Amino acid sequence: MGELAVEKHVKYVLSVEKRKDDFESVVMEHLRMNGAYWGLTTLDMLGKLEMVDRDEIVSWVMQCQHESGGFGGNIGHDPHILYTVSAVQILALFAKIDVLDIDKVSNYISCLQNEDGSFSGDMWGEVDTRFSYIAICSLALLHRLDKIDVEKAVKYIISCKNVDGGFGSIPGAESHAGQIFCCVGALAITGSLHHVDKDLLGWWLCERQVKSGGLNGRPEKLPDVCYSWWVLSSLIMIDRAHWIDKEKLVRFILDCQDKENGGISDRPDDAVDVYHTYFGVAGLSHLEYPGLKPIDPAYALPVDVVNRIFFGK
Ligand code: FPP
Ligand code: ZN
Repeated sequence: MGELAVEKHVKYVLSVEKRKDDFESVVMEHLRMNGAYWGLTTLDMLGKLEMVDRDEIVSWVMQCQHESGGFGGNIGHDPHILYTVSAVQILALFAKIDVLDIDKVSNYISCLQNEDGSFSGDMWGEVDTRFSYIAICSLALLHRLDKIDVEKAVKYIISCKNVDGGFGSIPGAESHAGQIFCCVGALAITGSLHHVDKDLLGWWLCERQVKSGGLNGRPEKLPDVCYSWWVLSSLIMIDRAHWIDKEKLVRFILDCQDKENGGISDRPDDAVDVYHTYFGVAGLSHLEYPGLKPIDPAYALPVDVVNRIFFGK
């Protein structure tokens, strides 16, 4: 199993930023904003954020902003709430939220709320509880939750709750650990966790751990490192993280490392990518692996960053 190959992962994350024409970079081109958030948050958890040029990144982020106030995945791309949250998170990491026209960004987000309390991802209208979480998380980080109807937003999320205690993407959709993270995160941020049956949901979530120690996102699916984040964050928010075997999960994540070239994959021996590298390191941070900054399970940002935003520390 070995240890976390910190130096290799730092090198890998920095190299993804620089490669412009290999396969992963091409795939990532339209979601570079998300990739930057995954990579930079990984570096911060590893205590290496100072290895990047903050001003250059902040300037690139701001060039991705559209006149509507939303952000695109890259310069000249259409805005979407998925990229907007990453832009806000990146600026939060660098303590640079003040470069934003906060009213403009929060107006873009609040205009995406629908009559039933749900959120669309962009002007084209697809609705998903991922977007409810993103809207609530972003507006909370901008201190502008008052710009939306929080009560209706919570009511809509509750309408996506299933009899197994989990949540889906829309009312009636099956429970899925990624959507559960979004719904529980949104409820945590708005102080609405009393709507969750913690024992029932905790049981469904801890059943996601399979023999290898890894976690899957739904029954009968293969384990995947990213669910170390979606499942474990949800369990932490409902105080049931002690229901899984933490040592086995640490071992599973460490087994997914490329020890030679750095990076973490979805499961052992697969190709690494920056998404799974981030969620692997974030999972290990939740598991109190030595040397990693703690990360907040609801805001998906290091705890010191969240404290700075809400307590000015
Ligand atoms: C599964 O991904 C994960 C989800 C459906 C949740 C996604 C959540 C967001 C985009 C909100 C923003 C998140 C953060 C951390 C700030 P998948 O479709 O890759 O799952 P699969 O591979 O199992 O189908
Ligand atoms: Zn995955």
